[in-house]
Amino acid sequence: ATTLRVALLGCGVVGSEVARLLTEQAVDLQARVGRPLELVGIAVRRGNRPRPGIDPALFTTDAEALVARADVDLVIEVIGGIEPARSLILTALGHGASVVTANKALLAQDGATLFAAAARAEADLYFEAAVAGAIPIIRPLRESLVGDEITSVIGIVNGTTNFILDKMDTDGAGFGDTLTEAQELGYAEADPTADVEGFDAAAKAAILASLAFHTRVTAADVHREGITEVTSTDIASAKAIGCVVKLLAICQLSDEAEGERTVSVRVHPAMIPRSHPLAGVGGAYNAVFVESRSAGRLMFYGPGAGGSPTASAVLGDLVTVARNRVRGAVGPGESSYAARPVASIGTV
Ligand code: HSE
Repeated sequence: ATTLRVALLGCGVVGSEVARLLTEQAVDLQARVGRPLELVGIAVRRGNRPRPGIDPALFTTDAEALVARADVDLVIEVIGGIEPARSLILTALGHGASVVTANKALLAQDGATLFAAAARAEADLYFEAAVAGAIPIIRPLRESLVGDEITSVIGIVNGTTNFILDKMDTDGAGFGDTLTEAQELGYAEADPTADVEGFDAAAKAAILASLAFHTRVTAADVHREGITEVTSTDIASAKAIGCVVKLLAICQLSDEAEGERTVSVRVHPAMIPRSHPLAGVGGAYNAVFVESRSAGRLMFYGPGAGGSPTASAVLGDLVTVARNRVRGAVGPGESSYAARPVASIGTV
């Protein structure tokens, strides 16, 4: 069968795990897709760094040339950040390649441009790894629950800050040391400010709200407060009254008079009672509660950060877009968004 060629952009915590699994699980992946997947190149910033277990011949520092290759069918973007990721994804889609990305910041800022490019190319743009690591939450919102009306999505969607708050709560650990540990474990963003100041959670909240409410919410629409102001005294005070401090992403839909819908999206630390299911979400785990009219309450829970869990979500998307390509089909795409604009997006 004709090989599907895969280009990987980025070889950090997630990328190196994806590269390793693509080789290690090649036989199973081929069986699941129906065609072999061949990793043809890995774009990296510095080509000379040793990366155990990955064929050094695959590395290139010329990402543009890699995505411009006409024979590349599938592109995985795990560089993160806005540029050069945005241009590379647009080039890939421009050539008709399908794209799998974990890039929440980019999707939350400029998802509209990417989806339009994917629609023009009749190519897939999948992003399960962009929110809550290994937890399947994008597909349920985009597909399984798309016939329902979702009214709220509330979650712990940043593993780094949950890890820090959890350590501060259970071990009385300090903020700085715990952040270093989270970085060493591969949970934090390249610039951990994105985690601790709530930018990462705000980007994820924007993506979740867009899908849940079929509208377009960008990171700029999200009220954001991080955890840098949370002190050990705050945590002790919460503990004294049977509560725990968590960084929550809260996305709510409200029906106003005359049927006008408004959406509110915010990220901030919150005290929650220890009896609440979200209180038990420890370490770098994430959890997302979804409330909808017909289904009622659903909870999605699991590892929210780190190389291996995030690579699981990336590979799931890769198999899906590869299968679509084999069948000459594309996934839900732009139709997930903006199907029903809301009257206002605020932070009520
Ligand atoms: N830095 C992110 C987190 C990685 O801590 O949740 C997963 O998106």
